[in-house]
Amino acid sequence: MMNFFKRKHSAEFSVPPEKLPAHVAVIMDGNGRWARRRGLPRTAGHAAGARVFRTITKHCEKRGVKVLTVYAFSTENWSRPAEEVSGIMRLLRDHLIESLADFKAENIKTRFIGDLSRLSRELTDLIAEAEAETANKTGMQLNIAVNYGGRDELVHAMRKIGREIQRGAVKPEEIGEKMIENHLYTAGQPDPDLILRPSGELRLSNYLIWQAAYAEMVFMDILWPDFTPEDMDEALRTYAARNRRFGGV
Ligand code: IPE
Ligand code: IPE
Ligand code: MG
Repeated sequence: MMNFFKRKHSAEFSVPPEKLPAHVAVIMDGNGRWARRRGLPRTAGHAAGARVFRTITKHCEKRGVKVLTVYAFSTENWSRPAEEVSGIMRLLRDHLIESLADFKAENIKTRFIGDLSRLSRELTDLIAEAEAETANKTGMQLNIAVNYGGRDELVHAMRKIGREIQRGAVKPEEIGEKMIENHLYTAGQPDPDLILRPSGELRLSNYLIWQAAYAEMVFMDILWPDFTPEDMDEALRTYAARNRRFGGV
């Protein structure tokens, strides 16, 4: 009933642009439970989730979000059954092939974040193509986190900085927050303002742990495959009503 009430009134979206999060990060969670409730295999949930991802991406662009980062596969997700992992990788490939055609018509710039070295050659080729094809787009930046882990990202950043120190290009005392940020997968992008996790779980699950320092968290009790543009509007409204202080008063 409550949801119905909210949905009915969602047609008017009146959040002023300055109250919108510039960077929205989404943990697309709940695909497995969605499928189980329908007596379907988990991969059917991932397929439904992939469709929602496309709808929500376009909706965020329409709302004027500047950067959207979605969590598609974590460094920990390899521990799932091989069949589920290959199902997700297949969906990712299908998405890339479709989006290469589809996003061409859209003004969305795509980047993949995560350790891509563990992905198949076919996938990394498609990723490189998708990034190159959209590199000159001027609209929303879409980051797709694949084989992404916040701790893994920091390990990679530290290794890169370590090599620069070894070469003599950097002194340890020159390491600062900016330098670390410049070595993350998200280098050059603003921190997420809003981290949104549907599915009812109340945790970050290794997502953007450095970048999340001052993000506003919004948790919603909706499984990702059921997530609608109206739900996204509700999250944006919730964010707009927050009072961000960044340690000040
Ligand atoms: C999120 O949905 C998708 C991935 C982690 C790849 P889940 O597969 O985690 O769904 P639940 O949390 O088990 O319902
Ligand atoms: C986080 O969800 C990863 C993605 C959504 C890709 P998980 O389902 O893997 O997280 P946990 O296991 O519930 O913490
Ligand atoms: Mg999950």
